[in-house]
Amino acid sequence: MATAPLRWGIMGTGNIARKFAQGLGQGNARLELVAVGSRHADSAAAFAREFGPHVRAHASYQALLEDDQVEVVYVSLLNHLHAEWSVKALARGKHVLCEKPATMTARELEGVLATARANRVFFMEGFLYRCHPRWARLRELIADGAIGTLRLLQASFCFDGGGRADGRLLTLAYGGGALMDVGCYPISWLRWMAGAEPVATSCSAHIGETGVDEWSGGQLLFPDGVLGSFVASIRVAAPPGAALHGSRGWIEVTEPYRCTPGSSAFIVHPQDGPPRTVVVEDDGTTRYTREALEVADHIADLQSPVMTWADSLGQARTLDALRHQAGVRWPGEPEE
Ligand SMILES: NC(=O)c1ccc[n+]([C@@H]2O[C@H](COP(=O)([O-])OP(=O)(O)OC[C@H]3O[C@@H](n4cnc5c(N)ncnc54)[C@H](OP(=O)(O)O)[C@@H]3O)[C@@H](O)[C@H]2O)c1
Repeated sequence: MATAPLRWGIMGTGNIARKFAQGLGQGNARLELVAVGSRHADSAAAFAREFGPHVRAHASYQALLEDDQVEVVYVSLLNHLHAEWSVKALARGKHVLCEKPATMTARELEGVLATARANRVFFMEGFLYRCHPRWARLRELIADGAIGTLRLLQASFCFDGGGRADGRLLTLAYGGGALMDVGCYPISWLRWMAGAEPVATSCSAHIGETGVDEWSGGQLLFPDGVLGSFVASIRVAAPPGAALHGSRGWIEVTEPYRCTPGSSAFIVHPQDGPPRTVVVEDDGTTRYTREALEVADHIADLQSPVMTWADSLGQARTLDALRHQAGVRWPGEPEE
């Protein structure tokens, strides 16, 4: 029996909102975009026109939440607005997929999760790389002893986002900076691969003129001795990367966060043999469609197994610690 499609409302009409709408519009019968909300009526109307005649345009975020047709809200706003609008959506009984990082601080996330719990609605932080099937294959390789005992993890995510001082990347009040924008990916990946929360963290950063970290690096020590290192930047042109080093070799992860549909690869470098490439085929689903389907698959469970509430909370606590060690505090954020 065919089930009715999950009805999505998109909050915000920016860069990632458009990509997500394209993902919803790729013909999957289980997903439907029904509405969009923007601060500006004309932005909402233009966005709705672009994605189909049935998409309703709302001239405020609140109006989107009052649309009874909307079952799940995709919060694609700037970081400092994630907590406020996730809480408002959840309190109104809407399920929520919120862009990464889920909130500005762990304390904010505690409020979001308490609201989801109280209203028995789904919440997920939008780390779409987690939804890709290749990670199960990577775990098998490690469990099969391909590199012996896991000891060191390395991950990076850098790009040059330009120098617009008033843009979202460089504005402190918007939750800008390298750790929040891209560092959250390697930090999330290190914690996921280690399968634990760090027992010790350290972070150093270059703080730019606007007060955000423009490039950062740090380490996470996990309970079993696994040590993870990361670098992240919004002002450095370098390819993202990730690697796992064990007692008997290492594995290179190509394109760790992009999730290009079709196939992806790991390069296994055993200590005592030539490197071999392990290709993981997938069904060609594009990344935003895959993420939306992950929500649809687990909506009744209130959380997704690849991005649980506990995992997001561990991530937010780690991000708080690293950001403070880097010397970044939000406007009005108290010193401990
Ligand atoms: N998953 C990914 O791969 C990925 C990639 C990039 C970004 N992101 C995340 O997605 C979120 C949005 O990033 P983006 O690149 O889409 O940003 P963006 O293009 O600047 O869009 C952000 C949207 O936020 C709304 N907004 C509310 N108050 C605003 C203000 N004071 N100034 C500017 N915009 C404001 C605007 O929507 P309206 O004008 O319609 O109200 C705007 O279009 C961030 O949390 C970011 O970390 C995720």
